[in-house]
Amino acid sequence: MAGYRRHVFVCLNERDASDPRGCCKHRGSEEIFKALKEGAGNAGLADVRINRAGCLDHCAYGPTVVVYPEAVWYHVPSVEDAQEILRSHVVEGKIVVRLLIDTIA
Ligand code: FES
Repeated sequence: MAGYRRHVFVCLNERDASDPRGCCKHRGSEEIFKALKEGAGNAGLADVRINRAGCLDHCAYGPTVVVYPEAVWYHVPSVEDAQEILRSHVVEGKIVVRLLIDTIA
């Protein structure tokens, strides 16, 4: 079957520091991406894909991560939060409510 059990996109967009919108890259999204990628690899999650993404258009809440197929949008401020999303949502299918963009928006 084509596709993945879970497909995770991490915004790594970078803007000039003078841009008032800011960007996920300057808020630490590279570390979030690495934590998810390495965590999935270490856990042997062959049916999960962690992908780099450009701007996901939720810049004010970055670092922004979206998990499919549920299309759940997260604000992921720390590596520990990324690890929780991996453990809870990606592996067990339990959404981490406290990190939902809808919760903080
Ligand atoms: S810069 Fe990351 S969502 Fe726009």
